[in-house]
Amino acid sequence: MAITRDIFHDPVLVTEIVAFLVRKPGIYVDGTLGGGGHSLAMLRQLVAAGFLEGSLLIGIDQDEAALRQAREKLGEYDARSVLVKGNFLDIKGIVTRVCSDRGVEPKVTGILLDLGVSSYQIDTAERGFSYMSEGPLDMRMDSNASLRACDIVNTYEEQQLARLFYRYGEEPRSRSIARAIVAYRQSHGAVGSTKELADIVRCNAHGGERVIKTLSRVFQALRIEVNAELEVLSQVLDDGIDCLDEHGRMAVISYHSLEDRIVKRFFAEKARSDWGPKGVGLREPLAWGSVTPVTRKPLIASQQEVASNSRARSAKLRVIEKNYQGGFSGCP
Ligand SMILES: C[S@@+](CC[C@H](N)C(=O)[O-])C[C@H]1O[C@@H](n2cnc3c(N)ncnc32)[C@H](O)[C@@H]1O
Repeated sequence: MAITRDIFHDPVLVTEIVAFLVRKPGIYVDGTLGGGGHSLAMLRQLVAAGFLEGSLLIGIDQDEAALRQAREKLGEYDARSVLVKGNFLDIKGIVTRVCSDRGVEPKVTGILLDLGVSSYQIDTAERGFSYMSEGPLDMRMDSNASLRACDIVNTYEEQQLARLFYRYGEEPRSRSIARAIVAYRQSHGAVGSTKELADIVRCNAHGGERVIKTLSRVFQALRIEVNAELEVLSQVLDDGIDCLDEHGRMAVISYHSLEDRIVKRFFAEKARSDWGPKGVGLREPLAWGSVTPVTRKPLIASQQEVASNSRARSAKLRVIEKNYQGGFSGCP
């Protein structure tokens, strides 16, 4: 499938997502709808394969701007798609509600999670995600949420900030940056903008290329905290698998090691069968793993894709399939 450019957000690994997920008519959930790029590709494939009749795409995003964009893009598929403003943390509730409205069983054939923020969110200065443009220290994906980046930067104690930059940014200079922020607050008052924060970080980072890395890490850490990104990830993986029909698949694209580690460990844990205590020598496990990895190793983008979409550089795709023995119980 041709990779088409999109100024709102250029989706990554589209061909792979479509090939892994769209294999029969069914219910598909795009838990990170964004501008609707992946959803559009999945819907087009459903049409091309003759599966559209009998299929439904449920798109979820917590960002109203993303939903507006996706509604426009997916307009011609109105009858076969339902777009919902919400957190994918509520995947079970959303799937259950939409399916009950449509009178269909809540058994999902494919789930996509394309984690993190969209290019649109990063590039919109007023959203405050980027150290490259001046904007308010916001970073909320859901603009109705209460916690903003400025609340963290201006109220967390030095130790809390240091821990945050270390845990969610893996930033080696976390302590000195936290100290500098607190000193700035004491001498200048609250840190008001992305530029002000970026200037404080710059003064406390090593020079050269490492400044950019430090800025990225500090901004990443704040974004993760504001949106509780890692907490919701563990939960949606679990609930997503519950929603899958047998042989249904879940595909997750992650963009940094903290996310990928959670996905990798979670899938490995779910795939593991229980062979009882060591040395018993069972012929069959007490319980089979509830999923099978479809990708043994994470898939990465081709050089060609990375050349045309720099966002694809750090993308890692992992896919699992739910096993028959998983005992699907519907979405409670
Ligand atoms: C990388 S973008 C997805 C882009 C999309 N695949 C496309 O083709 O345009 C991630 C999107 O997921 C949304 N998002 C991230 N975490 C979310 C969550 N917990 N619940 C709902 N939406 C979330 C963000 O608001 C953003 O629009």
